[in-house]
Amino acid sequence: MRVFVAGGAGYIGSVTTAALIEAGHSVVVFDNLRQGHRQAVQQQATFVQGDLLDTTALDQAFRDHGPFDGVMNFASHTLVGESMQHPEYYLRDSVSAGINLLTATVQYKVPAFILSSTANLFDAPETIPIAETERIVPGSPYGEMKWWMERALGWYERIFGLRYGALRYFNACGCTPTIGEDHDPETHLIPLILQVALGQREQISIFGDDYPTRDGTCVRDYIHVLDLAAAHILTLEALVAGGASRHYNLGNGSGFTVKEVIDAARKVTGHPIPAQVVERRAGDPAVLIAAADTIRRELGWQPAYTSIEAIIASAWEWHRQHPHGYAK
Ligand code: UFG
Repeated sequence: MRVFVAGGAGYIGSVTTAALIEAGHSVVVFDNLRQGHRQAVQQQATFVQGDLLDTTALDQAFRDHGPFDGVMNFASHTLVGESMQHPEYYLRDSVSAGINLLTATVQYKVPAFILSSTANLFDAPETIPIAETERIVPGSPYGEMKWWMERALGWYERIFGLRYGALRYFNACGCTPTIGEDHDPETHLIPLILQVALGQREQISIFGDDYPTRDGTCVRDYIHVLDLAAAHILTLEALVAGGASRHYNLGNGSGFTVKEVIDAARKVTGHPIPAQVVERRAGDPAVLIAAADTIRRELGWQPAYTSIEAIIASAWEWHRQHPHGYAK
């Protein structure tokens, strides 16, 4: 397959690009490098620096490098907390960027589209683990934006016949030996814990220990980025083969508390990792665990990283080799 990967220099996009190349596909990465890293993009991929808000550059990329069998969209603002401060980055910019990409996708007759969606669609789950049939309650403008994009895909299917996969990641984490997680600012639990182990941060803050969970801290479903990459490839292959559009929740199906993640990181790194309980972070639901049975059943997806220690060990390996991320 020839695949257009928007946001292919970001964390999940770059790992998926590498996995596509390893599976023998050809990839064109389109990324503005605002959050992504040029070093994260495999040499075998064609790299185009451009912004989805720049429709001329986008059009040019489709004309110069197509035709494509599929489009993947990893490009968007990605932080729940930021979206509560700057909803316009999400409800205006990321939506416009996404619609521009959808417009080019149908204009250049690409048959299949994969959207990075999110567990933030499920802010008030009635049933845990969370299935695709769960009621959609976006937890922030970030989740709202992803929901708008999922609904836009429904319209593009109805109007233009575009087939799509909406992949709702739970907590993406872990690294490959060569591609890691390097956000600025970093807000995610595992890389922050590893900064403590690297001596770059004195302690990890635990955001609240009065949730209705086994130790009072939030429970999340941590899913390795390589397993997410595999889900993208399987989904795109199914769509390109003529399969119907689909929504999948992607997680391991088991949850770990913040304290359990810190304990696992202590084991993996051998560092005491001091922790302090602080106030809850606004907007954090108590428990998010995926029921990922649909993609398992339909596509045979099987996460390879099911132990939290193995996930953290993969991240620790990369962060030790790149203590200051890609830049330095
Ligand atoms: N946490 C801490 N201390 C920290 C950082 C995080 O206790 O310093 C806790 C959070 O409260 C949460 C858990 O660790 O309970 C995981 O937090 P992350 O920030 O790593 O991830 P989130 O669960 O907030 O967010 C992730 C993705 C989002 C996605 C969301 C869906 O990063 O893109 O899951 O719920 F929208």
